[in-house]
Amino acid sequence: MQEKKPALELEGKVALISGGARGIGAAIATLFETRGARVVVADISFSEERHERGRLFLPLDVSQPGAWAQTVASTLRVFGRLDILVNSAGIFTVAAIKDETPERFMRMAQINQLGVFLGMQAVLEALQASGGGSIVNLSSAAGLTGTPRTIGYSATKWAVRGMTKVAALEFAPFNIRVNSIHPAAVATPMLGDMAANAGKSTPIGRVALPEEVAELALFLASDASRYSTGSEFVCDGGLTAGSALQG
Ligand SMILES: NC(=O)c1ccc[n+]([C@@H]2O[C@H](COP(=O)([O-])OP(=O)(O)OC[C@H]3O[C@@H](n4cnc5c(N)ncnc54)[C@H](O)[C@@H]3O)[C@@H](O)[C@H]2O)c1
Repeated sequence: MQEKKPALELEGKVALISGGARGIGAAIATLFETRGARVVVADISFSEERHERGRLFLPLDVSQPGAWAQTVASTLRVFGRLDILVNSAGIFTVAAIKDETPERFMRMAQINQLGVFLGMQAVLEALQASGGGSIVNLSSAAGLTGTPRTIGYSATKWAVRGMTKVAALEFAPFNIRVNSIHPAAVATPMLGDMAANAGKSTPIGRVALPEEVAELALFLASDASRYSTGSEFVCDGGLTAGSALQG
């Protein structure tokens, strides 16, 4: 008798990961490949297209609509299909409300918020052509609660959470699921030196590793999560569970 395929794998699927050059996106790319996916990493830090050891690297500024169209076209040219989009590209600045500038606020909105909308819009037709798919958006614990000194960043991460639900409702008829991931502090270049201290305030007492967030992304990208859409998946060491009274 033929063995049933495990649901938590990506055999035969093509995954496009924005911001995949480093940090959480890079960990997701590596894990997805080990589970059978063909992976496209698209990042502003790449200057040209490369196809190396089965992985496609594409230059992409997620805030540019034309650039997304080119990224999807290159993916289809090389791999012939697209099944998964992970919107991981993002930027983060720390500033109190009194100090935040309109320029920084709008730059975060363009990349973290507009970029996610443009990505979901750009892949729709390709996912439909594949018979469905999964979109995973990186929001944050800052998209679930208030976090001081992150007015611009938090605004974008709440927006990602909301846009995820809108897309989930619009795309469900096409068998496309859309969910958001909400990590707290993750040890990546985004946090740099802040990571060690940030981890201390979580009940688990440490920061997450990017590989731990990648495990959640794998679940959401794979058929193991086939009945989940429009939902928030938290990976925060207990940070948003509440605060214990100190006795
Ligand atoms: N690290 C954390 O503590 C943490 C916590 C919660 C949520 N997140 C979210 O997870 C995602 C990934 O974060 P990370 O920690 O891996 O960050 P990172 O800074 O390590 O990596 C981000 C990647 O995005 C790319 N990028 C930036 N602007 C871009 C643009 N305009 N177009 C395309 N690519 C662009 C960068 O070149 C980089 O490779 C982000 O959306 C972030 O907000 C991170």
